[in-house]
Amino acid sequence: MARAKKKLSLNTIVRELILVNRYAANRHDGAFDYDWDEINYNRKAVVNLLMADRPDGDYLEIGCAGNDLFDSVMARTKVGVDPARGGTHRLTSDDFFATWRGGMFDVVFIDGLHHYEQVRRDLDGALAVLRPGGWIAIHDMLPRDWLEEHVPQIRTRGWTGDGWKVAFELLASPDVEFRLLALDHGVVVVRPLSSQPRLPDLSATLRDERFAYLHRNFALLPVVGYDAAAAWVASHRSASCGAVTPA
Ligand SMILES: C[S@@+](CC[C@H](N)C(=O)[O-])C[C@H]1O[C@@H](n2cnc3c(N)ncnc32)[C@H](O)[C@@H]1O
Repeated sequence: MARAKKKLSLNTIVRELILVNRYAANRHDGAFDYDWDEINYNRKAVVNLLMADRPDGDYLEIGCAGNDLFDSVMARTKVGVDPARGGTHRLTSDDFFATWRGGMFDVVFIDGLHHYEQVRRDLDGALAVLRPGGWIAIHDMLPRDWLEEHVPQIRTRGWTGDGWKVAFELLASPDVEFRLLALDHGVVVVRPLSSQPRLPDLSATLRDERFAYLHRNFALLPVVGYDAAAAWVASHRSASCGAVTPA
């Protein structure tokens, strides 16, 4: 059953119409027809799945807002970073990663500023504080149309920004495995395969690309539903349990 949505104010509708008109040259008619409300899994299910085998683990969230996710995560310690509200540290993610001298984390969830360059910096920061065997998840990686994707922001509700570009850098790295989960506006889950994973910098190619690029190249991405993602996560767990350390 579709969930009731709060109506947008007239001001918001007018503002969006003005911006649609201003950026009309960037319009693209392709779209993905995911209905997030019809999929019974969300980012909370994903983060708790990643935390499930380490209830005494450490969790970091970048961008916490009203703590909707932050308060739902089961972990021994939780660090939340947001310059405006929520979490535990009133900082931008750049300042946090530059100054953090605490421990490492088992799971990092990236959901701060949804601009490609920032998401990429947050991913680099997350990789540097991730414990071996840990997971990184990135929210809002699957815009359904050009309005949800557009930077500067047009859509008020459901805006994802252009963080999706990072998925193409992950695709080009032999040092990570990842899946793009088709739920809750898209959640990318990353598993580093080496202690110092290298990600290529494709910004010269990707910087000026827009939704049309994602739409054209979508089939290249490892897009899965929740069940396939859970099986993939479990396969990594059994692989690490079965690992034999030479004497
Ligand atoms: C979409 S909300 C986060 C929602 C939350 N993760 C959840 O799932 O309930 C994005 C948040 O990112 C924060 N933010 C914006 N720029 C940021 C930055 N540079 N570093 C960290 N957080 C940032 C905003 O203040 C906002 O609260």
